[in-house]
Amino acid sequence: MPYLQTGKLLFNRKSTTSVLWSVINLILKMDFTVRAAKPEDCKDVHRMIKELAAYDKMPDHVQTSHEDLEKYGFSANPAFQCLVAEVPGEHKSKEGHTTVGYIVYFYTFSTWKGRSMYLEDIYVMPEFRGKGIGKALLSKVAAVARENQCVHLQLTVLDWNTPSQGFYFSNGAQDLTTIVGWRVLRFNGDALDKLAKKDPKN
Ligand SMILES: CC(C)(COP(=O)(O)OP(=O)(O)OC[C@H]1O[C@@H](n2cnc3c(N)ncnc32)[C@H](O)[C@@H]1OP(=O)(O)O)[C@@H](O)C(=O)NCCC(=O)NCCS
Repeated sequence: MPYLQTGKLLFNRKSTTSVLWSVINLILKMDFTVRAAKPEDCKDVHRMIKELAAYDKMPDHVQTSHEDLEKYGFSANPAFQCLVAEVPGEHKSKEGHTTVGYIVYFYTFSTWKGRSMYLEDIYVMPEFRGKGIGKALLSKVAAVARENQCVHLQLTVLDWNTPSQGFYFSNGAQDLTTIVGWRVLRFNGDALDKLAKKDPKN
């Protein structure tokens, strides 16, 4: 049943809600660009890597430096790819940053499925969240994955990080831990050394 009439426009409750939502979204959305990171972005990316580690409640776990990012991300055979999100100067952050988000990914290979992509990090600074920047970063990487014949895009997310899980699920991700029962395992420094020493040629 129509319940609001404005001039020639006649809305029912559902369309009024969706029109209001579109207007709110238009107000909330902000101009931003997503582009490939350059070596000179590494300081900003490293700053946000530390912010993400703090968000993940592991602020002391970042052992890389911005020089490492330059070295491993911008060599002839880069270990990772990175995109950054930028806002115009008039929308800079409280601290004056215009680079407000990043995504890091690299190619992997699934023996079952073929060429694939791993999403290492995605981060948008708190004051710029909910404006479509995260989705733009993720969609761009999905497009790069498809252009490069990747069959899937994989990532890990902390168990308690339900807001980000919501973000991934709302964009179509599946939870392999629940569906297949996979666990994430790692050989850390000492364990890796110990194992390496068992290499017969050592
Ligand atoms: C996750 C993160 C990158 C998302 O970026 P963002 O810019 O806030 O997200 P967007 O504004 O692009 O949201 C995109 C869509 O996801 C949806 N979404 C976002 N959070 C959601 C949630 N908690 N539940 C359901 N949907 C959600 C939005 O509604 C939007 O959908 P729409 O396009 O249909 O309107 C950002 O919140 C972030 O940096 N979080 C902290 C760091 C982090 O946890 N990173 C991931 C580590 S694994």
